[in-house]
Amino acid sequence: MKELQGKTALVTGASRGIGREIALRLGEAGAFVVLNCTSRGVEKAEKVLGELRERGGDGMVKAFSVSDSAAVDQAVDEITKAKGPIQILVNNAGIARDALFLRMKDDEWDDTLNTNLKGAALCARSVVRPMMKAREGVIINVSSVVGQMGNAGQAAYSASKAGLFGLTKSLAKELASRNIRVNAVAPGFIDTEMTADLPAEAKEEMLKGIPLGRMGSGREIAEAVLWLASAKSSYVTGQVLAINGGMYV
Ligand SMILES: NC(=O)c1ccc[n+]([C@@H]2O[C@H](COP(=O)([O-])OP(=O)(O)OC[C@H]3O[C@@H](n4cnc5c(N)ncnc54)[C@H](OP(=O)(O)O)[C@@H]3O)[C@@H](O)[C@H]2O)c1
Repeated sequence: MKELQGKTALVTGASRGIGREIALRLGEAGAFVVLNCTSRGVEKAEKVLGELRERGGDGMVKAFSVSDSAAVDQAVDEITKAKGPIQILVNNAGIARDALFLRMKDDEWDDTLNTNLKGAALCARSVVRPMMKAREGVIINVSSVVGQMGNAGQAAYSASKAGLFGLTKSLAKELASRNIRVNAVAPGFIDTEMTADLPAEAKEEMLKGIPLGRMGSGREIAEAVLWLASAKSSYVTGQVLAINGGMYV
């Protein structure tokens, strides 16, 4: 029997990048995976679902914005009616709107915090009620090394990612008595569309600060998320797992 057989997992931001790899990995491990993205990403998410089915897994695509409270509640309600309670939530959806602090616009701050931090809280709040009833659940928040160490030009992004640590630890304490575990992963410099546009010199500079000397892959993050989602980590809650090639220790 596969380790996530019989479980339903909701992975936000699963149309590409790290979320895509997480969705595929959880699906390979037997979970029915709900792949979320915005309405822009549906075609890509359908392709990921096709890949998952080719690998013997199954799931569905559900487009909604994680920062839209009513849309989140409606989607979770529909998933729960179709598949029963969600056992695994991976809050992966995220955006980076980089700007030097003095040039940062209000909407850049709001969009970043609303997607990366409020979006994770809204999704967690929506799945937690049925999880509490079922006395079973796992929530994994995808933060960032930048939330741990800060980064010039990323004040909003790093504030949103640091905020996820507080959310993770508070929910872990609040929900442990209902057998709901809440953890975070903090990826380092990972090869996805989010990092593809960085100028070559910036990438080279970044690589100098990584003891393992290379970028990470989405699959390496997905393996850690699978471990946190599975019973193998049954005594782990409220933790931040850094996956960064030694970039921050
Ligand atoms: N790449 C890195 O080096 C790195 C390092 C540390 C942490 N992270 C974190 O890891 C996560 C994934 O990063 P990535 O590099 O894979 O990013 P990416 O390639 O840019 O993909 C972002 C994903 O988030 C989705 N998304 C964005 N806004 C959304 C919203 N409001 N509602 C629902 N989905 C939304 C996108 O969907 P659409 O296709 O519909 O736009 C897409 O699926 C993010 O939280 C990021 O901050 C990344």
